[in-house]
Amino acid sequence: MNQQLFQTFKQRYNQDAKHFYFSPGRVNLIGEHIDYNGGLVMPCAITYGTYLLITPNNDRVFRFSSVNFEDYAEIEIKAAYQKDDSHWYNYPLGVIHHFLKDGHQFEGLDFLYYGNIPIGSGLSSSASIEIVTAYALNEILNAGYTKLELVKQAKSVENNFIGLNSGIMDQFAVAFGEKDKALMLNCDTLAYDAVDCHLGEYLLAIINTNKLRQLAESKYNERVSECQTALKALQAELSIENLCDIDTATFNQYEHLITDETVKKRTRHVIEENDRVKLAAKSLAAHDLSAFGEMMYASHDSLRDLYEVSGKELDAIVDYARTNADVAGARMTGAGFGGCAIALVKKDGFDNFSKEITEFYTQKIGYAPTVYSSLIGNGVGELNEQLDAQIKA
Ligand code: GLA
Repeated sequence: MNQQLFQTFKQRYNQDAKHFYFSPGRVNLIGEHIDYNGGLVMPCAITYGTYLLITPNNDRVFRFSSVNFEDYAEIEIKAAYQKDDSHWYNYPLGVIHHFLKDGHQFEGLDFLYYGNIPIGSGLSSSASIEIVTAYALNEILNAGYTKLELVKQAKSVENNFIGLNSGIMDQFAVAFGEKDKALMLNCDTLAYDAVDCHLGEYLLAIINTNKLRQLAESKYNERVSECQTALKALQAELSIENLCDIDTATFNQYEHLITDETVKKRTRHVIEENDRVKLAAKSLAAHDLSAFGEMMYASHDSLRDLYEVSGKELDAIVDYARTNADVAGARMTGAGFGGCAIALVKKDGFDNFSKEITEFYTQKIGYAPTVYSSLIGNGVGELNEQLDAQIKA
């Protein structure tokens, strides 16, 4: 594939690609919809991701092309940019906009992207393209940002340029991911631990609902604002900055401050999920994957019933998983409203799992899911031979 990408670059731009970078996608093991509430999350980078080939040009333009999308853009260098409709290249354009805002200057660049993360699947293809671009520009311009600064900048692209009020988890995970580790990230302080995630006799399965996500962005922003409403109500008596500053026991005492029943349900999910991540971290450290799996199921139930971001497709996957003795746990991962579920499945039972879940889902939903088994990979980096070998491993 790499060779083919270099050839494509040459064909499209009539010059050789000079730099080559990769940024992964991510799954979140547990801790869903709590990153924007200062909670604890446990994502890991996967080995699917976004490849970027890039070479300076002398034409004072940015040229964006992708192997995955037909739309191509040639954009003159300006002092600032705005989101252009819903084109894929808004993500790199947003990153460039932020570099310009910080006073960095450009000569002109040709970009070629290729991604093997299924598009719209909730595996963070957008964070992946933001981070690979930010990382590449930082290196090429010698701009001197730290990795954490690039992560914050990419989050700002998502929030202010694209318009999704997401938290920091995805950008953080794809930048800082480590092979065979899960990141225990505190989204309030941004302190994190890369914890061992050797799954023993299990593997991590990713099941794509293949459901086109509709209205996901507006529903996501609606959840964020419900959480803000809850925080304001609780602040009447509690001096907290985030919903995840309190635990379930404290919430039980103060829940009467929230009068709207829907907002109350959302808040219960957030606070209980944060407590669940703490327990899940202990189970993972003790290699107790069946306890970890139970917490995955509990997380899914809460996202379905209290936070209401699941859907019949994701629920069908988790319902099937519960009937298969080779599965320790399963849940939706990421924003929800379609996208992917994950499951911890015994390696020996994976083929059967894959076959049976495909039958079950197809019968119930009317079209097939896609089932992958995934390794936990490294975060963003220049694609030297070593990294390349790891991606292929
Ligand atoms: C999306 C957002 C993240 C996070 C998850 C839900 O992936 O980009 O910031 O909120 O949804 O946990």
